Amino acid sequence: MSLLEVTDLCVGFHMPGRDVQVVDKVSFTLEEGQTLAIVGESGSGKTQTAFSIVGLLADNGYSWGSVKFEGKELIGLRESELNKVRAEKIAMIFQDPMTSLNPYIRVIDQLAEVLVQHKGVSRQQAEAESIRMLDAVKLPDGKNIARRFPHECSGGMRQRIMIAMALLCRPKLLIADEPTTALDVTVQAQMLELFKSLTDEFGTALIMITHDLGVVAGLADKMMVMYAGRAVEKGTVDELFYDPRHPYTLGLLTSTPHVEERSRRLNPITGSPPNIENLPRGCTFHPRCAFRFERCFAEIPAIREFEPGRSKACHCEGKLVFEENVA
Ligand SMILES: Nc1ncnc2c1ncn2[C@@H]1O[C@H](COP(=O)(O)OP(=O)(O)O)[C@@H](O)[C@H]1O
Ligand SMILES: [Mg+2]
Repeated sequence: MSLLEVTDLCVGFHMPGRDVQVVDKVSFTLEEGQTLAIVGESGSGKTQTAFSIVGLLADNGYSWGSVKFEGKELIGLRESELNKVRAEKIAMIFQDPMTSLNPYIRVIDQLAEVLVQHKGVSRQQAEAESIRMLDAVKLPDGKNIARRFPHECSGGMRQRIMIAMALLCRPKLLIADEPTTALDVTVQAQMLELFKSLTDEFGTALIMITHDLGVVAGLADKMMVMYAGRAVEKGTVDELFYDPRHPYTLGLLTSTPHVEERSRRLNPITGSPPNIENLPRGCTFHPRCAFRFERCFAEIPAIREFEPGRSKACHCEGKLVFEENVA
């Protein structure tokens, strides 16, 4: 049994006069301590996939399919039970730390409160543990920072405080949604380093959501690429980086500086992602695809395993070779 087994997960939204499906049959598994990167352009359904796993979809949203966490089905679970799982086992952190932090409450009070509430420890124990966690996320002076209000901390510090808060109850699974996007490059690198060391130290499984492939290398074990609400390629990070089999994955790599030498010779993907309410016929990626052929205009490629542990939703067979574009 995997820690997390997501099978044919779908997300829809009630909209005035219509319903819109934004996630279509996404499946993946995650083992204890493993890191999965979910990658794709803005609007591809990454956040809604994460929200549906933790039951945090907007009021007009609904999900179907299956999300099994430690063997227990989370979809359709009562709110009270879901709250329990969220509090004790799954933590989520967001791009903007102020989504999780209250600007008017001292850092130590926010952190300690989490532990008192969910772990039933004494206030004194909770404070000591909170300061330990602030040190664990490598804040220069945990004791001092604990006494500040969030607005008295820098963006990088707040991010670390939020990670400390997420890890306080020692979750089995941490879902981080673009946690470094708002940070400058140096701080971003430090945060990724921190994620790596913390998941190693605490054995936490991590789902890292990002539109930036630069974030994935060195951090994740597995990777899932999403396009227009679907998973289009899945495999290990090494497999997808060094031998991408979906033209979209190749395009993303090509658009990421310094990921791969040979990328520089290839054209990055042009155009923009489709409107989810008006998807192209056939493969939704075909209008932007350099490898398309007749079948792609007419037939939606199902995701299929083409090698053990590797799958893609593409009609192309074998390795992707640019014939015309290679200089
Ligand atoms: N409450 C909502 N009602 C209707 N559509 C929504 C709602 N929230 C998100 N969406 C749509 O869901 C799609 C996927 O969004 P999202 O998962 O946030 O993408 P991303 O990959 O950038 O995280 C987008 O087209 C977005 O507009
Ligand atoms: Mg998002």
